[in-house]
Formats: sequence, structure tokens, C-alpha cells
Amino acid sequence: MASLEFEPDFIQPIEHRPKLQIIEEDGIPLIDLSPLNLNFSEPNWDLVAKIGDACRKWGFFQVINHGVPAEVRERIESAAKEFFALPKEEKRKASRDQVNLFGYSDFEITKSVRDWKEIFDCTIENPTVIYASDEPDDKELKELTNKWPEYPPDLRDVCEMYSAEMQKLTYKLLGLIALSMGLPEDRLHSLFKNQTSFMRLNYYPPCPAPELALGLGRHKDAGAMTILLQDDVGGLEVKRKSDGEWIFVKPTPDAYIVNVGDLIQVWSNDKYESVEHRVTVNSQKERFSIPYFINPSHDVWIQPLEELVSEQSPAKYKGYSWGKFYATRKLSNFKKLTTENIQVHHFKL
Ligand code: OGA
Ligand code: NI
Repeated sequence: MASLEFEPDFIQPIEHRPKLQIIEEDGIPLIDLSPLNLNFSEPNWDLVAKIGDACRKWGFFQVINHGVPAEVRERIESAAKEFFALPKEEKRKASRDQVNLFGYSDFEITKSVRDWKEIFDCTIENPTVIYASDEPDDKELKELTNKWPEYPPDLRDVCEMYSAEMQKLTYKLLGLIALSMGLPEDRLHSLFKNQTSFMRLNYYPPCPAPELALGLGRHKDAGAMTILLQDDVGGLEVKRKSDGEWIFVKPTPDAYIVNVGDLIQVWSNDKYESVEHRVTVNSQKERFSIPYFINPSHDVWIQPLEELVSEQSPAKYKGYSWGKFYATRKLSNFKKLTTENIQVHHFKL
């Protein structure tokens, strides 16, 4: 059993602590993407409607028959296991820091509480261009590149292979989401040229006090959309929109969990909402998960899409710069926050 290695600042404030009882019935929708593999020239409207319903009711859904080869999933999962099994000193050689924002970290901080996890982040575009500072008028840019560990030696290749598959799935899903909002299929595509997307390998070690800690505190994803691979242990919980209950996401073999992030909430002018979720830990089993965070270019201005705004339905957000938001978040990773981190609701009109 793991020992309490951290100072007890992993102890979650009482309202965030996991409840022991979890609800398993009525989970998030499971959607079969196989119609996409048929290559019809017309969209499959039944599928589009299912995606739209899931985005509206849950902000979350699972997909099967998504086209990502099983071998690619297996390779990334085993590379992640190999990496996190290394001694801490070895993993720390690939630590992220203020200059290198990607790499390994022992813990993540959510709202000033430590999460019971280790992570390894890698960015997708090489290099990824972001703003160098969070000052609104400072237009200086900087380039971010990845920091690869020595072991396992194929981690870089495997992550690159995995992200190539994720890109294909990203555009399929963005197409379905755009269609479900009554927009052309490729309406969102151009926003992701020079994307700031990144992927994360998550390792949740067994926790001696799972009722006091969370693997990941409740949060919403700030980007456009997240595609998550989880193993068969489970721990992800989604806040059900209808009643605010935390709903356990039952692991489905070979599936991906998809959720809309804050940017789709703004673009859709609140037609779709980014939903809170969290991860509970367990005293027996370690857990691995791999989220792929889809983010636009640093120079994209985020505001409700003009096609979805009218006199009857005015914009609910003032615009904001994705790049400045991203810089503020990324640069704050190294500060222990005493106040709430920047959030999309700060831009609500
Ligand atoms: C995240 C996240 C869920 C998981 O990293 O934003 O929600 O199951 N992860 O690891
Ligand atoms: Ni998340």
C-alpha cells in the first residue's frame, strides 16, 4: 500500500470529497460511430441527432467503432505503464518546469488542492506557438516543444502515432458537433490550424485514504473538446445536469469518452454546456487514463458563433483571446493558487 508521501494538502475540502455511494445506472450515452466508416456523401442524420442530444443533455458521451486501431491504443497504454513504473528520480529527469511546460509532474493542483496523481504531458504541434505572457497587450510569442524521457525509448514514437489517430477522430467529432448545431460540417475546422492541443498520460496510484482525496478535483475542461481513453478500473464521475448527482462512468471496452469543453459552450452560445467531472481514487488498484485535449490556435478569438446569435438570442459571452487564456492557465501551473483560476464564466455577459 502506498504511504502518505505528501503533506496532507491532498485532503479535499468537504464539499469536494467523494461520496462512497456511486450511481451506475443511467450513464452517459454510448454512441456507435460506425456509420462514419461507410463514407456516404450525406451526413448520417440519425448519428448527428444522437451527438446533439448527448451534448445537450450530458455534455459527455462514449463512442465505439471510432476507427482508432486497437494496436495503437494498446501501445500507448503499455508505454504509459512502463514510464510511470520507473523510479521517481528517473521520471523527474523529464519534469516540466517554467520554461518547458510539457513533461512529467508528480502532482497536479486543482483549486489549491493537490490531486492524487502523476502526469506526463506532451504537446501535439511541434513546436506549439503560444503567447509568452498573460499580459493582454504583450503579443510576444514563444515556441513550446516536448521533453521526452529516456525510458521507455519508444514513448515519443508511440505518442506521435497516437496523436495522428486522435487528429482523425477530432475532425470527425468536430464535424458531427458542427452539423448538430445546424452548421456546415467543416465550420470549426479552420480554428484548429496551428492548434495548441496536448495530450496527457495520467497515473492514479492506489490511495490509502480514498474517502479524503480525489485523483482529480472537480473541474471543467477549458478547451474545445476532450477525448479520453480510460482503463477498466474506472473512477471518472460526471455531474449529471438534471440533478447535480455525480455519475460514475462505467468503463466500456475499446470506447472513448468525449466531452465538450468551455469553448464549445461559448461557440454554441450555451446550447451545449461544458460539464463538471472529477476522478475518485481507490485503495487497491492503480488507474491509467489518457486525455487528449483539443485546443485551437493561440490567435483564435473566442465568442459565440455569429450564425448562432440573433436579436432573439443575443450573445451570452464577451469575446476573449484563447491564447491569453491558455497562457494564464499554463503559467499559473507553477503557482499554488489561493484564488480561483481563470474560468470561462468570467467572460459571461
Ligand atoms: C482531465 C480529466 C479524467 C480521467 O484530465 O481533465 O478529466 O479519467 N481526466 O483521468
Ligand atoms: Ni477533465
